[in-house]
Amino acid sequence: MENRVAVIGAGLMGSGIAGEFARGGYDVALVDTHESALVKGVQGLKRSQQALVDFGRLSEHDAEEALARVKPTTNLQEACAGAAILMEAVPENMALKQDMYTRFDKYCLSDAILASNTSGLSISAIASATSRPEKVVGVHFWNPPHVVPLVEVTKGDATSEATVEHMMGVCRRLGKKPIRVEHDIPGFVGNRLQYAVVREALHLLARGVASPEDIDLAMTAGPGLRYGLLGPLRTADLGGLDVFCAISEYLCADLNADSGASPVLKALVAQGKLGAKTGEGFYAYSADELDRFLARRDRVLLGFLDVLEREADDE
Ligand code: NAI
Repeated sequence: MENRVAVIGAGLMGSGIAGEFARGGYDVALVDTHESALVKGVQGLKRSQQALVDFGRLSEHDAEEALARVKPTTNLQEACAGAAILMEAVPENMALKQDMYTRFDKYCLSDAILASNTSGLSISAIASATSRPEKVVGVHFWNPPHVVPLVEVTKGDATSEATVEHMMGVCRRLGKKPIRVEHDIPGFVGNRLQYAVVREALHLLARGVASPEDIDLAMTAGPGLRYGLLGPLRTADLGGLDVFCAISEYLCADLNADSGASPVLKALVAQGKLGAKTGEGFYAYSADELDRFLARRDRVLLGFLDVLEREADDE
């Protein structure tokens, strides 16, 4: 039982999370409502393990063993019954999640931990659907989970310290870089930082200040490059806090502070332009180009990760 995990939702995140636990030696039940979703999830899982093999971070043998440890199933009750940890990755909808947690509470062992991969919904509200809020915790993997090390472990109002510490330990053993999020606030830490940037990027686009290509380049060739190593607070330390203070005085008042989704984003969504998955968002993607782009993303990010890990070892 100790070694068994149920991952609920075999979509983009669930299939990736299943791979993380399987490579960490867990037996994983991967649950979805339809066979077709499971087939797609397993395809994604194979692709991500292959990316790690191609990059030399995983042997063929270990990849095969990991894949063999993942058992796709549509039987939620059976998957829950044997699991020490339940990782929920169903769509970002509070009503759906609460309904699922009521069922998890019924089906799971009384000491099982119920972890949500929500990007930022309230862990306390999700936990309120159960009789064990002390065992409900946010465990937010980032996309793509086989590449990005960050996991945010978020405490709900009633989450016990033991639950948080247990999941911090599990994530470390999976080779991830977990952070503790002490308060259950929308978006946790990572998405608050990310959306501060996205909001301003959309504002710059709406004001016609720069093209999508140049806004992206301003990040990837500028602050984004530094952030991968330094983070925003150390970047400020290195730039000089007096300088950051002086710039904040005139700049912060001019930054976008609108609430709600940007009109630019709403218009694209209304036109069905949802980004890579529909072939068009800010950029256009053919299926071939997208495959090549995703392969390149994995290769470049894994290369960057290798460099960062080697640098950390040398210190
Ligand atoms: P997705 O739409 O790719 O996958 C969700 C899966 O859940 C689908 O396969 C769906 O069939 C399945 N599902 C729906 N109802 C179910 C049920 N009752 N029982 C079992 N399976 C069910 O969604 P995605 O992107 O994987 O997101 C899942 C969660 O992870 C969300 O909470 C999201 O906010 C979060 N997340 C998403 C990230 C992203 O970049 N897409 C990044 C990090 C977190």
